[in-house]
Amino acid sequence: MDRFDIRGGTRLAGRLTVKGSKNAALPLLAAALLTDGPVVLRDVPDLADIRGMFKLLTELGCKVDYTPAESADAAGGVVRIQVTDPTISHARYEIVRTMRASICTLGPMLAKRGSARISLPGGCAIGERPVDLHLRGLSALGADITLDSGDITARTPKANGKAGRLRGARIFLGGPFGSTVLGTANVMCAAVLAEGTTVIECAACEPEIVDLADMLTKMGANIAGAGSPRVTIQGVARLNGVDHRVIPDRIEAGTYMCAALMTNGDITLDNCPADALMAHIDRLQHAGAKFTVDEQMDPMRTLCRVQGAGTRGIQPIEVTTQPHPGFPTDLQAQLLASLTLADGNSVITERIFTERFLHVAELTRMGASIFRQGPTVIVSGVRRLVGAPVMASDLRASACLVLAGLAAEGTTIVNRVYHLDRGYERMEDRLRSLGAQIERVNDKEEVGVPAAQGVG
Ligand code: EPU
Repeated sequence: MDRFDIRGGTRLAGRLTVKGSKNAALPLLAAALLTDGPVVLRDVPDLADIRGMFKLLTELGCKVDYTPAESADAAGGVVRIQVTDPTISHARYEIVRTMRASICTLGPMLAKRGSARISLPGGCAIGERPVDLHLRGLSALGADITLDSGDITARTPKANGKAGRLRGARIFLGGPFGSTVLGTANVMCAAVLAEGTTVIECAACEPEIVDLADMLTKMGANIAGAGSPRVTIQGVARLNGVDHRVIPDRIEAGTYMCAALMTNGDITLDNCPADALMAHIDRLQHAGAKFTVDEQMDPMRTLCRVQGAGTRGIQPIEVTTQPHPGFPTDLQAQLLASLTLADGNSVITERIFTERFLHVAELTRMGASIFRQGPTVIVSGVRRLVGAPVMASDLRASACLVLAGLAAEGTTIVNRVYHLDRGYERMEDRLRSLGAQIERVNDKEEVGVPAAQGVG
């Protein structure tokens, strides 16, 4: 099991290309099940979760060929997917349990193959993660859904004794915490092949949904309003193959922005989706970071320079996580790490996954002063963090601990970085290229640790 050994205290400086987005790529890969034609995706990052989705698609009758990027600084590799056996429709627990995003195959498989059986994903380190909204949406399209032995089985309505098509409907996808990103992806993928018109109200507005709609439109789907809370879809009988470039990863970019603030560094990000990071950039500016964004470029693929707060130091701020375009939950832990060194008290409220604070106890071990009550934490800035052995518990919490280690005095050991490898490609190499003193160490001593759990 790998760990990172980090000697903190170096100002990070240099240039990085933001990789393709994990959370955009996962539903795009699943959407390949919607067509008999070949699907080519570019800028696909080489990550454990992406490899997990390749494995699942292979089990579901696809031929998957991945060519990793030739240079370490490219945005990602190229994958080509071709369905060869459309008769399989069972995503087994062995795969689903290692990768929660397996649920994104439900909508495409149901719409194209007439039935889908997927193990119900369990809870994970960041909370309960129900899928009731996904199922409500698919039922509204006419799917017959049953739960049996831990599996969800969904079937399209029968027509002349055979599996027929789903039927368009008006669907409300809001839940107690707002909309659902992967639920919107699932319903959208099912509705593109349904008969008639579907209107999704309270659809997720995340950029990953816009990217999915862009790809489906290139495949021949008829979708209006993606990126807004109301998405309208006119169903079509079939979709074609496609060649599509995945959007850059806003969470990876946002994490390196926090690294610049935290180490008082100077990092330039190429292929930076600044347009998708407005809330994060706003909060970091209030905390003292300086941004220079090239306004002439595509706002989703811009050149963005981030500098630390200089002698003024990091300023305390308030932040609440919200659905897009609000501040993303996937950057809460990283921002929290940065605010441990602010000059005063910051307040962070988590409104998407209210239990997503496993990093708090570990940061406290490094000298951070954090008080939590329910979904809110008060972070009282301290003068310094001190390196310590810490345990990563989920993907973004791991990134938060790496950031803390980069700014801490002495050595920080971040254990179990397999969580990090789910969502950050070769993070240690990228940080080293910016001047960080960080090594990946294979810790053979550690035995008897449970298998990785799907979180993203
Ligand atoms: N929710 C329900 N019912 C549902 C679905 C969701 O109540 O049927 C609740 C959730 O419990 C949560 C909220 O709605 O409180 C939002 O969850 P959502 O469904 O949007 O999350 P997701 O689609 O499963 C994706 C990302 C997460 C990211 C969330 C929120 C992927 C693969 N995962 O998950 O990414 O935190 O959206 O933006 O896209 C990560 O990358 O670290 C990660 C966890």
